Amino acid sequence: MTMEDAMLYVETHGARIPALGFGTFRLDGRTAGRMVACALEIGYRHIDTAQMYGNEAEVGAAIASSGVPRDEIWLTTKIWPDSFRDGVLQRAAETSVRRLRTEPDLLLLHWPNPEVPLRETIRALNDAKRQGLTRHIGISNCPSALIRESVALSEEPLLVNQVEYQPYLSQRAVLEELLRHGMVLTAYSPVAQGKAFSDPTLTRIGERHGKNPGQVALRWLLQQDGVGAIPRSSREAHAKANFDIFDFALSAEDMADIFALARPDGRLVNPTGFAPDWDR
Ligand SMILES: NC(=O)c1ccc[n+]([C@@H]2O[C@H](COP(=O)([O-])OP(=O)(O)OC[C@H]3O[C@@H](n4cnc5c(N)ncnc54)[C@H](OP(=O)(O)O)[C@@H]3O)[C@@H](O)[C@H]2O)c1
Repeated sequence: MTMEDAMLYVETHGARIPALGFGTFRLDGRTAGRMVACALEIGYRHIDTAQMYGNEAEVGAAIASSGVPRDEIWLTTKIWPDSFRDGVLQRAAETSVRRLRTEPDLLLLHWPNPEVPLRETIRALNDAKRQGLTRHIGISNCPSALIRESVALSEEPLLVNQVEYQPYLSQRAVLEELLRHGMVLTAYSPVAQGKAFSDPTLTRIGERHGKNPGQVALRWLLQQDGVGAIPRSSREAHAKANFDIFDFALSAEDMADIFALARPDGRLVNPTGFAPDWDR
């Protein structure tokens, strides 16, 4: 595989996931529908939604009317932790299929829920896959210990752990753990929720390549083994710019300079009440 092929897809357990996807958190239904249509037009072939985003119906409608064959699109959705009981999870997955008008390619557990035994939730997730409610399954927001536990409990392969990953946050421990299990990392908040755009280091590197700082952050993620990214935007011009990262390459020195931006307080998404014990 050449570096460019590796940039286009991340491979895990026989599946090929388009490395760059389009995120839809905080996009209301109407905006999500409009932007998913726009993203597919631009060339995105990976769309990320969740039950919690309240936009699955519009995302599904945009995919259905896009003219892009369904099997060319990788669609991910996520189950909210209040639906993690056996039986409840499968019904929640059915609801997603109905709203999306199609089975997702990947169904994730959105956040860990210590109130329901992980064994029960993973069994229900396996069952949802066996019932054909999703093509593949995975997890989200899991630190190393929870990755290990989830993998040990699952009979079906877990493909992905979707976690925050951007230049200010090291995910070395998580990424190493995932690669040990043949899993991959999908980076959420990959342009640090907009903060990347005013970063002096990313700006300096970008100027040398004729790219903006967000494009540098996205390229940095995709140049790492087993890492994909799902930037979100409510604007066509931004969605287009975020997709325009396949015609340049960061040097080893650029990569090292960006890795050096990680800092202990660099995490942006850390909800009180349900965030797990992250790796330090
Ligand atoms: N699993 C989870 O728990 C979880 C948690 C968070 C997010 N996610 C997923 O990951 C996706 C991305 O993460 P995110 O939405 O938190 O953050 P993000 O993609 O890092 O940042 C989105 C922000 O950056 C701005 N932006 C994007 N591209 C830009 C550009 N080219 N120029 C200037 N500004 C730009 C957007 O503003 P404009 O709209 O103005 O472009 C928006 O304010 C989500 O949409 C969701 O699908 C998952």
